[in-house]
Amino acid sequence: MPQFEPVLLANVGKPESHTLKVYESTGGYTGLKKVLKQMAPVQAIEMVKSSNLRGRGGAGFPTGLKWSFLPKDHPGPIYMCINADESEPGTFNNRILMEDDPHQVIEGIIVGCYATKATTAYLYIRVEYPRSYKRLQMAIDECYAKGYLGKNILGADFSLDIFLHRGAAAYICGEETGLIESLEGKRAWPRIKPPFPAVEGVFRKPTVVNNIETMACVTQIARRGVDWFKSIGVPSDPNNPRDPGSYGPKLYCLSGHINQPGCYEAPLGITCRQLIEEYGGGVWKGRKGKAAIPGGISMGLLTEAEFDTPLDFAGPGKVGCLGLGTAAVVVMDETTSMIDFLHNSCRFFSHESCGQCTPCREGTHWSLSMLERIKAGKGRLRDLDLLLEIGDTIGIIPGTTICGLSDGAAWPIKNAIRKFRGEFEEYIKRTNPTGHLETKAVPALPILAGAH
Ligand SMILES: Cc1cc2nc3c(=O)[nH]c(=O)nc-3n(C[C@H](O)[C@H](O)[C@H](O)COP(=O)(O)O)c2cc1C
Ligand code: SF4
Repeated sequence: MPQFEPVLLANVGKPESHTLKVYESTGGYTGLKKVLKQMAPVQAIEMVKSSNLRGRGGAGFPTGLKWSFLPKDHPGPIYMCINADESEPGTFNNRILMEDDPHQVIEGIIVGCYATKATTAYLYIRVEYPRSYKRLQMAIDECYAKGYLGKNILGADFSLDIFLHRGAAAYICGEETGLIESLEGKRAWPRIKPPFPAVEGVFRKPTVVNNIETMACVTQIARRGVDWFKSIGVPSDPNNPRDPGSYGPKLYCLSGHINQPGCYEAPLGITCRQLIEEYGGGVWKGRKGKAAIPGGISMGLLTEAEFDTPLDFAGPGKVGCLGLGTAAVVVMDETTSMIDFLHNSCRFFSHESCGQCTPCREGTHWSLSMLERIKAGKGRLRDLDLLLEIGDTIGIIPGTTICGLSDGAAWPIKNAIRKFRGEFEEYIKRTNPTGHLETKAVPALPILAGAH
């Protein structure tokens, strides 16, 4: 494995790493103490802003900038919501942090709440993570006992409560306004924005929503400083004043057809090939790679020829993917059928669409219907263009939907068909030799049992 000293995962694997005792023995809570002693909240926001930390939950939005959108001098309350829904397929870095180093996450939350003047933090965690829930609650209890949470934390004029909230497990609960609705006890239907949560979030009060790994990064910035954080990763493009760069360490989840799957910490900007070869020990069974999902299924696909793409915030977009997403890389070997890949992807998004927006509800349903038909040997070549038409027209980017779930549904369709069109055409011609040129409308097949 390459030389890079893990920071976010430094405690993972140590005995009792989830306890306050072990965390403090490795420098835990020194960053918080520094911030409370030396900085006013506005300076703490400035620290995170100047680190150029970008959110690790999928969209890569600059964290300090998001915090600075909160209204100034608001009478309160201001809330912080921590997103531990982690339902993007292939993603498990949040779980590892919560299970093995919960205090690293909590320290970042306390620093974040001090900076934003939030007095209550809700940590929204998916119900499938009972171990994470237990470990987090233990860590929160330890913090109250030690004075890191509660009234006048470490003697400062700052009080904070953290509550864990278990979500009932739906992909849409991870979308920040879906999460807020769910936290309020309603169905997780994303809200139309604006207003953005910074202005009107949970209980219609100013709210910041951040990911678990983002908060662990805040801890490390508070402890080690901005210069340390910016010494890692990919600098901003000097010719593009709007590029905040891709700084800091990142947790990459590696799974699929790989010799050593796992969660690895590397500098942002490592290439997909380096991750597969140097960290994952190569594609399994001595086979060649065919494709990889760069950052969760909603980001689309890299072909083997694109494996040298840097996995920073800008890299995957340059080869037609949606972005870095959660940096969860799923590797597919040369025997993988792209038809099966796309069928699975369409099943997932059709099942998870909340149904509010017609283009998403209908588009995900009809793309699944077409994939079912293709797989049943009744595909037509024109289905590929119909699928592309759906892919190009659903989502926030084309401007037809409320949330980004539909962009996530569209990208696997667009990338699979545009990058592997020959395989789709060959499959359709072989399995439907007499009907593949059919142009008349044909009825949809019933969706297979289990797809919904
Ligand atoms: C359908 C959908 C699901 C999402 N799921 C998650 C999730 O499980 N965890 C997460 O942190 N962000 C998720 N996001 C992104 C959040 O909306 C939000 O951008 C993020 O929590 C902000 O945190 P960050 O700025 O620290 O990355 C999802 C977005 C969409 C559109
Ligand atoms: S885009 Fe899809 S998931 Fe998002 S709000 Fe609309 S219907 Fe729901």
